[in-house]
Amino acid sequence: MNKMNAVVLLSGNGSNFKNIQDRVKDGFLNMKISAVISDNEKAYGLQIARKENIKTYALKNKINDDLNNVLNKINADLIILAGYMKILPPDIVDKYFGKILNIHPSLLPKYKGMNTHQRVIEDKESFHGATVHFVTKNLDGGPLILQQKIKVDDKDTVETLKEKVHHAEYSIYPLAIKWYTDGFLEQCENYFLFKGAKIESPIQDISNIK
Ligand code: GRF
Repeated sequence: MNKMNAVVLLSGNGSNFKNIQDRVKDGFLNMKISAVISDNEKAYGLQIARKENIKTYALKNKINDDLNNVLNKINADLIILAGYMKILPPDIVDKYFGKILNIHPSLLPKYKGMNTHQRVIEDKESFHGATVHFVTKNLDGGPLILQQKIKVDDKDTVETLKEKVHHAEYSIYPLAIKWYTDGFLEQCENYFLFKGAKIESPIQDISNIK
């Protein structure tokens, strides 16, 4: 099978990107990250990409026009959002529907949007986590794929939750990407199949799934 051509969009640290790139290098993921694109020229993730000899693009003034041009040039099979803080414009979402993945730091559909760790603490939730989903025009509301739960302790702070959630993200994001690149995720109108079965709710128990 030909290697898929993926691009990563990020705005900040890029630790998820780094983790995904490590999984490309260790052979877990059969794809190539051909570019890293950021709306923030100072994003640390861009520095990581340069060290990895991956082409970088810092979007300038007309961010979405620039993004469209770069994506047209790259012809990506998969667009991986990894901490990209801008909302993608509807034309890009429509054009690449079914090819854009995002990871969100909550157990979607709970806690869409920002400051998820803080809100989870305020609401005294027992569980928190991370979710990989396809991107639609509905913010953090696209079809869910894979989720990992973490237990919230009384002593947890925003910082400890952030660390625990990141840890969960490093395991589920590469796995969901692998399902995509291996052809296990198929689009059927506006929903998705995993290994031929409709995903009714996000997959949580990954212990038996390779
Ligand atoms: C992650 O928590 C992810 O869920 C959210 O943005 C954060 C990015 O972190 N979408 P990093 O830049 O990959 O460290």
